[in-house]
Amino acid sequence: MSAEYIALMNVAARIARQAGDLVYAGRRAGAGTVQTKSSATDMVTEWDAASEQLILQQLDLLRTDDSIIGEEGTHLVGTSPYTWFVDPIDGTTNFLYNLSGYAISIAACIGAEPIAAAVFLPATRELFVAAQGHGAWLGSTPLRVSSCESLDTALIGTGFSYSSARREAQGQRISRLLPQVRDIRRCGAAAADLCFVACGRLDAYFEEGLQSWDLAAGQLIASEAGAKISNFSGEPITPSEVLVSTPGIHSSLIASL
Ligand code: IPD
Ligand code: CA
Repeated sequence: MSAEYIALMNVAARIARQAGDLVYAGRRAGAGTVQTKSSATDMVTEWDAASEQLILQQLDLLRTDDSIIGEEGTHLVGTSPYTWFVDPIDGTTNFLYNLSGYAISIAACIGAEPIAAAVFLPATRELFVAAQGHGAWLGSTPLRVSSCESLDTALIGTGFSYSSARREAQGQRISRLLPQVRDIRRCGAAAADLCFVACGRLDAYFEEGLQSWDLAAGQLIASEAGAKISNFSGEPITPSEVLVSTPGIHSSLIASL
């Protein structure tokens, strides 16, 4: 199994880089055509679709028997135990505004459990990878979460929904938490936030209402780097409630959220 997970990680890494190069070149020429999805602020560009198409073609070529689920509509059912969760551009709003925090997120899962992952940030050319039981890396550097043990010195990442009703509740949670922590960051791409916990650029990240393609790759990278992961009550993590932090502040965050 372990050689298999590393091989799957390498497949994810290779394809994430290819898709990242494509969207980065696209971004340099302007964001291209833009449409909206679940709300007026939930955007999709022609490069989201082109990236998903490239990832789909490559996975189909290299992993013929696997299932594939992608944010922009891919739903292929295969015969192997593996399902790929693909976000062709995580952080589309950043992409649209030419901010650097967007990522390609690709994970191989067995059921809902990620076993191999890659997250590539095209604008900074950073490649985060992980294989279950083997660790997580940024390029060739092994990753470890920060040693933060206290909420009042913790830098916390979060994100907000595209639904304005849900944002009201999210704003209330932030206003309760803000006085208790060092500061809050809203970087704009869930996959990148999770990788930032893995490498110590954030001490924790929480968000509600994600989708599996936002979560799967970054979740594995963070947990392989030593992060503690759960929902807001300390139960198993699901895309609908994501709390990922250094072990030292996890229970305080559960109490505060
Ligand atoms: C979004 C980003 C954002 C998070 C949203 C996600 P998208 O993904 O990850 O940071 O706050 O919940 O939907 O739409 O840019 O792929
Ligand atoms: Ca996306």
